[in-house]
Amino acid sequence: MINAHLKEGKRMSKENFQVYPLIDKKKKGERLTDKEIKWFIQNYTDGKIPDYQMSAMLMAIFLKGMDVAETAALTDAMLESGEQLKFPGKNVIDKHSTGGIGDKASFILAPIASAAGVKVPMIAGRGLGHTGGTVDKIEAIKGFNTALDLKEFQKKLNQDGLVLIGQTPEIAPADRLIYALRDVTATVDSVPLITASIMSKKLAEGANGIVFDIKTGTGAFMRQTKDARALAKSLILTSKRFKKKAVALITDMNQPLGRAVGHSNEIIESIETLKGNGPKDLTDISLALAAHMIHQAGIEKTYEKALKKAKEMVSSGKALEEFRKLIKTQGGDEKVIDDYSRLPMAEVQTEIKAPKAGYIKMFDNAKIGLLLTELGGGRKFKTDKIDFGVGFDFKKRIGDQVKKGETIFTITHHAHQKDIVAKINTTFQKEVLTLSASKVKAQKLILEKLS
Ligand code: URA
Repeated sequence: MINAHLKEGKRMSKENFQVYPLIDKKKKGERLTDKEIKWFIQNYTDGKIPDYQMSAMLMAIFLKGMDVAETAALTDAMLESGEQLKFPGKNVIDKHSTGGIGDKASFILAPIASAAGVKVPMIAGRGLGHTGGTVDKIEAIKGFNTALDLKEFQKKLNQDGLVLIGQTPEIAPADRLIYALRDVTATVDSVPLITASIMSKKLAEGANGIVFDIKTGTGAFMRQTKDARALAKSLILTSKRFKKKAVALITDMNQPLGRAVGHSNEIIESIETLKGNGPKDLTDISLALAAHMIHQAGIEKTYEKALKKAKEMVSSGKALEEFRKLIKTQGGDEKVIDDYSRLPMAEVQTEIKAPKAGYIKMFDNAKIGLLLTELGGGRKFKTDKIDFGVGFDFKKRIGDQVKKGETIFTITHHAHQKDIVAKINTTFQKEVLTLSASKVKAQKLILEKLS
């Protein structure tokens, strides 16, 4: 049984630096010391440094970068801005994906790992930019409560070994403030800033090991594989400095993961995958990530044995039962597992067809996420409510041959959305889809592994 306790965030920086010289120092590409970084973050979080000076510092970091030690100090400062959970034992393992289109792997890998004996403490995010969010997707299930407080979170992890909540105000409040600024100052895609943002939250939730899924391609924040590799290395090095086990897979995000893009339809695809009927890419990535979690937890000695165990958790139905338990214990309607009509679903289906014959060469995958937002399946404003019942279901993948007029994907939408659907069709044909007259190789899914 895990014996968890809350630790109050330490507030240690007593130095008295000046804001302007520190921004100037980073602007010139010089290193900041641990004390300078901690002082800056603490004073910003306490409201003593205004947004405009923090924005200048973020842009200086974006342009000049940070070395491993500075990134670790930034992570530490953001971690210490809030509460930290601690769990003894080495079987508390989480997974983090950098986000993409149709990425529902958490709903599959977490029950698989949990059924195999891993404790999985998931604090997940909502949709961000063009990407969908795990917390939004699970809320398609009526009654599912993603707002447990940290005490309930710990209790549930102890009891059931699997818990899934959204970001809480107690975890890394500095990240919450800084993230909102980065979102509006074009400073999101910076390796040290992403590393500190992700790691401060993962370290605070008390996992002893982390499996990273770093996405690369047209639907990822890191479009180029070399940038994804740099982020993977930074996350692994930072994990090591905090004495956490870490492994990173660099995976393709040039097309949606699986076939479903939306909310209810992604939950259905996840359940089907847990029943052993999932699409190959989603099944393979979920099994691989779950196997790394099982291996990292020390439950199996080799990755190969862990993969075998992960597959057994699906074929035996144990992983599906874990998912049912997760839904039930967090207040959700677990009957959706056997009856998909209990999920919200829009009433009309329209097929989007190939304008000419050819091979599918490329999708501008980020735009697919933005087109879903047009239907109400994403937020344009923070206060927007997600429509769980709209979505896309892809019939074709990169490399597939299509005839003129053949369906590439189906849109599920409301009857009053015909004009939006017509606009989506035009944008898809003009800006998203690239067809080639010559054969195109299918996309590789797992590109690299770093540990
Ligand atoms: N996800 C995060 O939590 N933070 C980032 O900066 C980017 C992706």
